[in-house]
Amino acid sequence: MAPSHTQFNGSVQKDAEMQDYFTTNPQPPNLDRQITLARTFINHHATAHRRVALITSGGTTVPLENQTVRFIDNFSAGTRGATSAEYFLEAGYAVIFLHRQFSLLPYSRHYSHSTNCFLDFMTHSPVDGAVVVDSEYQTQMSGVLSRYRQAKKENTLLLLPFVTVNEYLWLLRGLAMQMQPLGAKGLFYLAAAVSDFFVPAERMVEHKIQSSEDFHQKSTNGNGNGAGGGDGERAPAAHMENTRLIIDLDPVPKFLKLLVDGWAPQSMIISFKLETDPSLLANKARGALEKYSHHLVIGNKLNTRKWEVLFVSVEGGEKWIRVPAGRRTKSMSGAVGDGLEDVELREPAVEIESLIVPEVAGMHAELIAKSEGRKVQ
Ligand code: PMT
Repeated sequence: MAPSHTQFNGSVQKDAEMQDYFTTNPQPPNLDRQITLARTFINHHATAHRRVALITSGGTTVPLENQTVRFIDNFSAGTRGATSAEYFLEAGYAVIFLHRQFSLLPYSRHYSHSTNCFLDFMTHSPVDGAVVVDSEYQTQMSGVLSRYRQAKKENTLLLLPFVTVNEYLWLLRGLAMQMQPLGAKGLFYLAAAVSDFFVPAERMVEHKIQSSEDFHQKSTNGNGNGAGGGDGERAPAAHMENTRLIIDLDPVPKFLKLLVDGWAPQSMIISFKLETDPSLLANKARGALEKYSHHLVIGNKLNTRKWEVLFVSVEGGEKWIRVPAGRRTKSMSGAVGDGLEDVELREPAVEIESLIVPEVAGMHAELIAKSEGRKVQ
């Protein structure tokens, strides 16, 4: 059905709002340097006819103050992105890993953070007391080390950090533009947990919001912490009213639409859909596919995201991908179970990304073949 006049005007207005984001919210200071690194990386791999995956990973923050003391965060440890990156590299891709600073990284993820402290993998040699890898972990670490060294030697992994949602959006746009010459060989795998609400630059206060009434500031111009609101001017997005902190956030434009329609029209685009209510997941994933007309939505529930995901695509319909029964749990005690009860307390014996990435790579190979007018081999 053709869009009605009103619908059409509405969508034009939304597009303008999205473009407007980049004129009203400032470019991050190190953007040009990061884009230059990416351009060199992409050109190198384009010349080698390699497929390039841009993986986003980790949560974006929403600062409440320009000189930031307080911020709102989105949940994501970076496990999905970092683990997937390793499997994309294994599948022959070059990977741009756009990640939240200090979240999990490919390869080092095996030995970082509280559950995998690297010190637990080390021991003193009984011969000379030197610090060495415990014999129990030699084989596993040797494999990880070899793959890490290969990625370094072949220059197939580029790490680019972000912290705020603003940095994320500027980087995503800039990188997408750089990836355009790759055509269908470019792939976007959007696993980052992106804020839906934010503080626009013009409503951001400069200094730390003062909780004590004695220090409340009266300014309303974005440089103070006062409630303001006179003469139609909107109050700062985060401000004190008596003893209460008021936070009034604007919606983040749905940039996925711009990515699909304008920034990366030839690339394969995969978004993730995170839900906590199981009854909503399939509908929301279908809705996202219809709304943005990209290639694939991967739905996951917060509690079971390491055990099962739902693929929703036009070509493939709906398909669950699950860690095979019997290989589902690897508890600290080594006990193996089948159910998904108490899953948060356990780790699956198989990384579900080892099943997700080959499926995605297969779909991508078909898209590339189609764009070149041939059948996939
Ligand atoms: O890192 P882990 O701990 O392993 O967790 C992984 C994960 C659960 C975070 C990951 O698998 C996941 O689901 N990531 C997407 C989470 C998310 O942002 O979902 P959403 O429903 O808010 O957004 C869905 C999609 O819309 C996203 O792919 C995003 O690209 C897009 N979006 C989001 C916000 C926005 N303003 N515009 C968008 O286009």
